[in-house]
Amino acid sequence: MMGKPHAVAVPFPGQGHVLPLMELSHRLVDRGFGITMVCSEFDKARILAALKKEDDQRCIEGISLVAVSDGMGTDDDRGDVGRLSKFVMGADFERFLENLMRQLNEREEEKVSCVIADVCCSAALSVAKKLGIPGFGFCPAAVADLALCLHIPKLVESGFIADDTGNIVEDQTFRITPTMPEMSTSYFGLNGLSASSKRTVFLLMDEVCRVPTLTDRILCNSFRGIESPALDSIPQAVPIGPLLPPKRAVTKAVPHFWAEDSSCLTWLDQQQDRSVIYVSFGSFSVLNQAQFEEIAAGLEQSGRPFLWVVRPNLMTGSAVVYPENFLDRVGERGKIVSWAPQQKVLAHRAVACFLSHCGWNSTLEGLSNGVPFLCWPFMGDQFLNKNYICEVWKIGLELKAEEKGIITREEIQRKIEELLCDDRQGIRTRALKMKETAEEAVGGGGTSRKNFDDFVEEIKRENL
Ligand code: UDX
Repeated sequence: MMGKPHAVAVPFPGQGHVLPLMELSHRLVDRGFGITMVCSEFDKARILAALKKEDDQRCIEGISLVAVSDGMGTDDDRGDVGRLSKFVMGADFERFLENLMRQLNEREEEKVSCVIADVCCSAALSVAKKLGIPGFGFCPAAVADLALCLHIPKLVESGFIADDTGNIVEDQTFRITPTMPEMSTSYFGLNGLSASSKRTVFLLMDEVCRVPTLTDRILCNSFRGIESPALDSIPQAVPIGPLLPPKRAVTKAVPHFWAEDSSCLTWLDQQQDRSVIYVSFGSFSVLNQAQFEEIAAGLEQSGRPFLWVVRPNLMTGSAVVYPENFLDRVGERGKIVSWAPQQKVLAHRAVACFLSHCGWNSTLEGLSNGVPFLCWPFMGDQFLNKNYICEVWKIGLELKAEEKGIITREEIQRKIEELLCDDRQGIRTRALKMKETAEEAVGGGGTSRKNFDDFVEEIKRENL
């Protein structure tokens, strides 16, 4: 009989991908699994630095972090989705994974029971198949986003996407299934990427399309209460989310790329219930100076307390410059941090709304805490998520850009008032209800909880 089951987890090297797969890994460790997680050397170093840990391979509670070079220099831009995509599609990455799994298999106690790979890392599933190891996909984004990717061959057939360049005919609408909301080619969110990055990301989406041929199960960070039709459209999709740290449990280490500034929690403690605007644009989005100044002015003019995450690499190619005397004028009413403990922030009673880029993790974190959204998508799946937030679940309002593509201070102020002044549209009420739906999914008897339990039991059985 073998020892405890051992899973190899392979995330795409982005913050919004590593966090949910690490949360899944923590849960598997709690159920007796050993986990080896693959990450880039660069990400491993910054995760350890953010956790203030030494370079110790077994650094995160039963999870071994094994690092591979991403082939970039120290100063290269890890926010460049094109380059990251190239890395996970490259032969070096695949070779590394194969060697790793062969080495692990040589040691009886580390024999690989299964591979759980981000759908953007299909190479890991190919290797698993080659070595006869059960492989499972992991979807850290909306299931609807996965359904959109899997629909690409049909969109190529319809002429909405050019197969050779990956160029997408903007704003074509279509339905994937009759029960899913209408989709748009703009939900691929490739605007703003260079032609070569667009091509690479398109190739990556093509790789995602291979996933259902490599596995019979894709574990999804979503739940039936919000995405039932999308889940029904993909036979392999199994919802196990939302994958958020359980409340009141001992907090496990979280693999942040930047150190959290917890001083904002003390600041939140001093604010009134549901009074604070929380502003965060995730880990990839960048702003230019003009747009940055509009946000600052919009928050100032709102007259409300705000907590704003200004990441070290938030600005396009320049340092952060606040409008003159801005910090003095807002004083204690504004709290600015370079990286927040976002999940704790969103669970705080003082938060009134979430001005968000609509990354899928942020979306799940906001809705699981009953927080209404002000939506400001930048790229990728965020446009699709925004559509679900505003049009399908109706728990947020969209900030709309002016002709020059800028979201003005007036628009920010107007939408804050519309969202927070009264609840004529029922947005806040629906957001609160959403919190219950999310809790039900992972609570006793919930579908996500049951799916996760079944998965664990199956791997344990097969490991005997
Ligand atoms: C990207 C995409 O935007 C997202 O849609 C996709 O599904 C995954 O990759 P990102 O832009 O980083 O991710 O956004 P998001 O998915 O929201 O993930 C950001 C994570 O960082 C969240 O879990 C959030 O809690 C965390 N975060 C963000 C912090 O902990 N502190 C911060 O200050 C900001």
